[in-house]
Amino acid sequence: MPAPRTVLLTGAAGGLGTLMRDLLPAYGYELRLFDLRPVEGAPEAIVADLADKAAVREAVRGVDAIIHLAGISLEAPFEKILAANIAGTYNLYEAAHDEGVQRVVFASSNHAVGFTPRPRGEEPLIPVDTPRRPDTFYGLSKSFGEDLAQLYWDKHGLESVSVRIGSCFAEPTSVRMLSVWMSPADGARLLHAALTAENVGHTVVYGSSANTRLWWDLSTARALGYEPQDDSEPYAEKLVAEQGELDPENIAHAYLGGHFVSDPPIWPY
Ligand SMILES: NC(=O)c1ccc[n+]([C@@H]2O[C@H](COP(=O)([O-])OP(=O)(O)OC[C@H]3O[C@@H](n4cnc5c(N)ncnc54)[C@H](O)[C@@H]3O)[C@@H](O)[C@H]2O)c1
Repeated sequence: MPAPRTVLLTGAAGGLGTLMRDLLPAYGYELRLFDLRPVEGAPEAIVADLADKAAVREAVRGVDAIIHLAGISLEAPFEKILAANIAGTYNLYEAAHDEGVQRVVFASSNHAVGFTPRPRGEEPLIPVDTPRRPDTFYGLSKSFGEDLAQLYWDKHGLESVSVRIGSCFAEPTSVRMLSVWMSPADGARLLHAALTAENVGHTVVYGSSANTRLWWDLSTARALGYEPQDDSEPYAEKLVAEQGELDPENIAHAYLGGHFVSDPPIWPY
């Protein structure tokens, strides 16, 4: 597969999209931007809803690959998740298939497996093939996205990497995040690896830095060529002093998905 150059970035106005707009051009990509909202500083961005099939088809035409970040990124009423994350991701894959796009990198989430108990002590890291246990309708939509990616690979040969992102922010802000944090620079490294690795078929990876307190197995991400450079541990002393260590009796500290497992999810997390 020739290395992709032109990449459609959906969700370009969002938090992760904004970080990646800054970081990915250094890897040589030309980004085409897409979002429901205008993208600050980028009047050329396509402003459209994933529900608009004609606009989505037009947006994917001629790109080598897609990084699909657009969608609702927290828990929401099922009907909203259904439209944006489930039907929207279907529209994107259908357009990608129709237009002959080679590869999609799909922003999945740890919340697809959010009800998996987090490892404690010397327990093994959670592998990517752990059974799916979504913690929300949001997590359920990410499970759907991963299955959709598998279907389009098996049926149509459209490759995908589904990245179960932990928390990609400039700095970790909670003790839980020490385990699931992905620095923005590592996020760009992982997306670049997911875009350029050969023969990925449909590969599922966890998306985080090489955190000392890591909960999951990064081996499938490393197999793509991802070499994380960051670790949340330098933030640990301050966060633990402020918030204490994770409490085994607290349901929000017991599972990969953190507060998303509670009903309703407790904010902020
Ligand atoms: N940021 C993280 O740490 C994290 C963790 C796990 C998964 N993810 C996933 O990564 C992606 C990006 O996350 P984020 O934090 O930047 O979220 P975000 O909410 O900041 O951005 C999402 C963007 O998608 C756009 N969008 C929503 N519905 C749309 C629609 N119907 N059509 C077109 N655009 C639409 C929004 O306008 C927004 O700009 C999301 O899919 C999210 O679920 C992010």
